[in-house]
Amino acid sequence: MTIITFFISLLFLYNVESARVLLTVMDQGRSHATSINTFMHRLQKDNHTTALEFAWFHPDIDFGMEERFIDMKGFENPFASPDFDKIAFEEDYSFIHQAVAYGFGSKTCNNILKHKKERFNEILSEDWDLYLSDSLFAVCGYGMAEISGKPHVMMHSTDLESAQGSFKAFSRCKYNISFRILHNLFINFRNYATFVPSNLPFTMLDFSVSKYFHRIWAAYDWFGSFIFTAFVGNFAQKWALRSIIPFPYFSFSEYNRRSSYTFTDMPDSLFPPASRTNDFFSFGAYCKPSSKPLPPDFLSFIDDPKSKGTILIAFGTFIDWRRAPKHYYDTFSTIVNQLTDYRVIWSMKGERPPGLRDHVKTSSWVPQNQILHHNKTVLFLSHGGLKSTKEVICSATPTIFVPMFGEQTRNSWLIKEKGFGRIMNKFNINVKELGTHVREVLEHPTYQQNANKFLTYYMDQPIPTLDEGAFRFNKLLKYGGKMPAFFYPRALDLSHITVLNLDMYLILPAMLIYLLK
Ligand SMILES: *[C@@H]1O[C@H](CO)[C@@H](O)[C@H](O)[C@H]1NC(C)=O
Ligand SMILES: *[C@@H]1O[C@H](CO)[C@@H](O)[C@H](O)[C@H]1NC(C)=O
Ligand SMILES: *[C@@H]1O[C@H](CO)[C@@H](O)[C@H](O)[C@H]1NC(C)=O
Repeated sequence: MTIITFFISLLFLYNVESARVLLTVMDQGRSHATSINTFMHRLQKDNHTTALEFAWFHPDIDFGMEERFIDMKGFENPFASPDFDKIAFEEDYSFIHQAVAYGFGSKTCNNILKHKKERFNEILSEDWDLYLSDSLFAVCGYGMAEISGKPHVMMHSTDLESAQGSFKAFSRCKYNISFRILHNLFINFRNYATFVPSNLPFTMLDFSVSKYFHRIWAAYDWFGSFIFTAFVGNFAQKWALRSIIPFPYFSFSEYNRRSSYTFTDMPDSLFPPASRTNDFFSFGAYCKPSSKPLPPDFLSFIDDPKSKGTILIAFGTFIDWRRAPKHYYDTFSTIVNQLTDYRVIWSMKGERPPGLRDHVKTSSWVPQNQILHHNKTVLFLSHGGLKSTKEVICSATPTIFVPMFGEQTRNSWLIKEKGFGRIMNKFNINVKELGTHVREVLEHPTYQQNANKFLTYYMDQPIPTLDEGAFRFNKLLKYGGKMPAFFYPRALDLSHITVLNLDMYLILPAMLIYLLK
C-alpha cells in the first residue's frame, strides 16, 4: 500500500515538461489575442513555449508571444469592411452576423491555402505539442490543428458561445430519458431557455428569466446560433479547407466535440450560475495591476482641485466617432459640455472637434486602466467589451454602457444586474436619455457601493484563477493533451436529439395521443 502511495505521489510531484503550444486566432485578431494573452503569459512562467498565429494585414502590437503570423498584406481583410460600422451603429446583432463572420474567416483561409500554403506548412511543420484554438472565426487555425493530428483546446475570449457549448454537450442533463423526464419536469428546468442570450437584443435589455417571452427568445437565439454555426458557418469552413481536409470535409461541431479542454475568459462570479463539466475552466477572474503612473498631462488635468470627479468616455478600438452617425456625437457633446463641475476625458481619433469646453480633454489614446483606477474617477462610459468590463470590475467604477454589437449587450446586462451599471440603448441616443443616465449614476452612491461590494466577491478565490488554469493545463499535458475517457461527459457520445431532450418532447405527446385514441 505504501509503495502504491509512494508512486502516486511521485506522479503528482513529476514536473511537466515544457510544452510548445500554438495559439491560433481570427484574422488580425488583436482583440481576441489580448483576451487570451494573460493566460498565455502565465503559461510562460511554467516554461512553456507560446506562439501566436493569425493572418496579418498590417503591423500590430507586441503580444509578448513568439510570432507565427501569415503575411496577407495586399489581400483584403474581410473584417475591415465599411459594413462593419453600419452593423455597429445601426443594426441589431444576431447569430446571422456570427455566421457571416465565419464566412469572412473562411475567405481569408481560402486565400492562405491558395497563395501562402508554404508559410502555412512551415508553421505546421514545427511540431507543436498542443494547439489552442480561438473559438471564433480562426478557420485556418482549425485546419492546421486538424491535419497535425495533435490535440487541441478551445479558447473563448468571452463566455462559451451557445453553439460551441452544445457541440461539447455543456449544461445539459446527461442521464437517460426516464431520468431526464423526471429531472426536467420536477427538479430543475435549467437549460437554453434560462440563459441570458449572448446576442441580447436591444428590446430586451431588462432580460429576466421570469418573463415568458424572454425565455422563448433565449431558446430561439440558442437554436439559431446552433443551426447557423453548425451548418451555415460550417459550410464556408468546409469550402475553405477543402484542399487539406477532403470529403466529408471539416466539421466544426466535431472539432469542438473532440477538443480536450475549454478555457474561457468570462469570470465565473460575473456569470449566472451554470452547470459545469470537468473539461471546462474559466481563468477570467483576474485583475491586471495598473502599476504604470498616469502621464503628467492626464494627472494635472485630473487633479484639478475644482473638479468634483473624473468622467471617462472610451469606446474601444473599433468605434470611430468620425464615422458614427451625427446624432451620436451631438448628444454626447451636449451632455459633456454641461458637466462643468467634472473633468471629462474623451477618447477619440482625429482632430478635436470645435465647441467642446475646457473641462473636456480629448485624446486619441488614453491610459484607460490607470484612469479607471484613479480615486477621483466617478463614471465611465463604455461599449461593454469584456476587457473593459473587467477593468470596470477591478477598478470598481460605476459605468454607463452603450453596447454596439456582439456580446456587449450581454456583458452590460451582467454588470447592470450587479447594480453598478446602466445600459443605454443605441437606438435611443438622445440628450434626455443620456442626461438621465448620467445624473442617476452621479447622484446615487449605491452604484459605487455595489461596485466595491462586487469586487470583494470577485477577488475572493481559494487560489488565483490564472494559477488554477495553469495547473489544469499542466495536468492535461501530463496526459499527453487529452484526458482519459472517464474525465469527459457521456453526453459527448449521444446524439443532439437525445442531449437536447428533443426526444422527450416528442414521446410525451405521442403517449398522450396513444392513450386518448
Ligand atoms: C523554469 O526554468 C527555470 C530555468 O531553467 C527554472 O529555474 C524554473 O524552476 C522553471 N520553472 C518551472 C515552473 O518549472
Ligand atoms: C436511468 O437513470 C437513472 C439515474 O441515473 C437510473 O436510476 C435508472 O435505472 C436508469 N434507467 C434506465 C432504464 O436505464
Ligand atoms: C486619493 O489618492 C491620493 C493619492 O493617491 C490620496 O492622497 C487621497 O487621499 C485619495 N483620496 C481619497 C478620497 O481616497
